[in-house]
Amino acid sequence: MRIYQSEDYKAMSRRAANIISAQVIYKPDCVLGLATGGTPVGTYQQLVDWYKKGDLSFAEVRSVNLDEYLGLSPHHEQSYRYFMQSNLFDHIDIKPENTHVLNGLAKDPDKECAAYNKLIQELGGIDLQLLGMGHNGHIAFNEPGDDFGLETHVVTLTESTIEANKRFFESRDEVPRKALSMGIKNIMNARRILMVVSGEDKADAVYRAFCGRVTKEVPASVLQLHPDVTLVGDKAALHKL
Ligand code: GLP
Repeated sequence: MRIYQSEDYKAMSRRAANIISAQVIYKPDCVLGLATGGTPVGTYQQLVDWYKKGDLSFAEVRSVNLDEYLGLSPHHEQSYRYFMQSNLFDHIDIKPENTHVLNGLAKDPDKECAAYNKLIQELGGIDLQLLGMGHNGHIAFNEPGDDFGLETHVVTLTESTIEANKRFFESRDEVPRKALSMGIKNIMNARRILMVVSGEDKADAVYRAFCGRVTKEVPASVLQLHPDVTLVGDKAALHKL
């Protein structure tokens, strides 16, 4: 496992964007596993910046996103499809048909999940999976206690995740209670993993994930078993390591 400690959020974002762009330059038609949440926003901004300067092209890149809220349409401002369009896809040359986000309005969510697993397989697997981490150690929407053997599935969000994500909604009541999420198995099958963490409020989760024992109670701790993980964080998030 490689750990890069950056001075602050901006430097952390730049480092993470460097790693993603290296992947894209090395394999222009790579499959990127992408993440949402506040942490990767700066990384996406940096990638957009480099694209606009002509340093990077996503013309052949395929992408799969980790998760989506169940019940939100792709046009809902808090849906993860909307997030990806506004933070990245609308500003780069990735082909719309090459971007994949789970459909939060799927009539049959279990079928949607099964089709997503098949899609990942058909794409040839994920070359580089970007991840953030929740305060309780969740990755994507794999909450504490979720089985490490799960693939894409329907998840009931924990109180802690609802609490953390309510800042994006008008009120707590509006936060969806369920989501569709890649499972730990999909994530662990990615050839490389890049986790971004920022801020003092993530320091405990980082410590428990990477210095504690591997346990379902801290989903991110499973990454200790992956052969190619890079952790990029700012000082505040990494200082307990
Ligand atoms: C959400 C997402 C996760 C993300 C986490 C942390 O729950 N499903 O993929 O890693 O939030 O988000 P943030 O980066 O805003 O702390």
